[in-house]
Amino acid sequence: MYRRIKGTRDILPDEVGKRRVLEQEAIRLFEAYNYLPIITPVFEQTELFVRGIGEASEIVQKEMYTFEDRGGRSLTLRPEGTAPVVRAYIENNLMEMRHPLKLYYIMPMYRYERPQKGRLREFWQIGIEVFGAPGPDVDAEVIFLMVEYFRRLGIENINTYINTIGCRQCRPAYIEKLKEYLSDHLDELCDDCRFRYSRNPLRVFDCKEEGCAAVLAGAPFITDNVCSSCKDHFKGLMDFLENMNVDFEINKKLVRGFDYYEKTTFEVTSELLGAQNAIGGGGRYDPLVKDCGGPDIPGIGFAIGVERLLLQLEEEGLIPETDLSPVAFVVFTGDDMAVRAHEIYLSLAQSGIKAEYDYAHRSLKAQFKQANRQKARYAVIVAPEELAQNAVKIRDMETGEETLVPVKEVSDRLKAMMEEVN
Ligand code: HAM
Repeated sequence: MYRRIKGTRDILPDEVGKRRVLEQEAIRLFEAYNYLPIITPVFEQTELFVRGIGEASEIVQKEMYTFEDRGGRSLTLRPEGTAPVVRAYIENNLMEMRHPLKLYYIMPMYRYERPQKGRLREFWQIGIEVFGAPGPDVDAEVIFLMVEYFRRLGIENINTYINTIGCRQCRPAYIEKLKEYLSDHLDELCDDCRFRYSRNPLRVFDCKEEGCAAVLAGAPFITDNVCSSCKDHFKGLMDFLENMNVDFEINKKLVRGFDYYEKTTFEVTSELLGAQNAIGGGGRYDPLVKDCGGPDIPGIGFAIGVERLLLQLEEEGLIPETDLSPVAFVVFTGDDMAVRAHEIYLSLAQSGIKAEYDYAHRSLKAQFKQANRQKARYAVIVAPEELAQNAVKIRDMETGEETLVPVKEVSDRLKAMMEEVN
């Protein structure tokens, strides 16, 4: 018996249907705002993520699926979509396509994390990335789109947090200040945070350990220590958000786990999901395109975790309905009817009516049982007596009512019947 790899899931037909509904809603929203779709490869050069996400980040340190291919190259299954989309943007000269350029994606991601509720090793993200727009109006639009998407799905029990984490001009001085503060409390920090202290002190704010949280209560926050340009940007963002009626709170601890962020960071968290409560997050990454070898073009984006979104919808009783049942099940009275029955089944499917047929040529009774099990709305009964007049019976499986219909008209009649019941 083979089993799926730990941290992965089989997404079965019913769930695929539900996901499609979520994806369609996202596509409708993003395309209305002139975002274009993009899909990048599942794996990339490892170096892209090391440079892009940051050598000292948790993801690069502990969570990447990195392997050598047969040509001796180090490759990594993408742990996130931003660095790959930036790589594609530069490599394909997409700045020449449109400027600014707004993109969206729906792609699986891979992180070697400890699996638990809401945390997988293969998970999907719905995300957007905007290139070439430096102002806070775009930050506000991007945050609005995430919140608006959740609103359209009916989600209520969530909170939106924003923060500014400064830029390369103002952050170094703050980091010194933070390190100075933390240096007096090193023995109160967890092992991870002592590592963060030396490699990436800002990330100490991500820690959930009680001891570390207690230390941080007295720490200086980046939010209060940014330069005037970052401060103005943050103020501008809040003005736009207020004008757009987006509810938000400032969370001074929201530093996020990627080195590429500058200025704006944001996250939407659930009130219902427990430990893994971030449904979506994002931020501005102005230096990233240049850091990856492209021109000096700013960027901002977010990603939503599809599996967490599904958990949230489940908690709120909002899971979309899916219908896996065929509209018409073609049943027939014996082997001599099989060819005609199969032909009718094909013509129904060809005309766009979801149809089914019994490949096993079981008894009529067994075929009806199948039709019932699959919850077919109608049975199309192919029998010699009716066929002699070039007709079949359509049985309404709910009411039991039967109608004699010329073979040529079966599709049209079924379509009309479906319209009537819908
Ligand atoms: P992130 O916060 O790492 O950001 O991931 C975004 C979302 O993906 C999370 O809020 C969560 O819902 C989901 N997610 C993350 N890890 C897992 C996991 N192990 N299992 C299930 N779901 C997970 C990014 O990835 C950035 N690239 C977002 C971004 C786009 N920033 C700018 N542009």
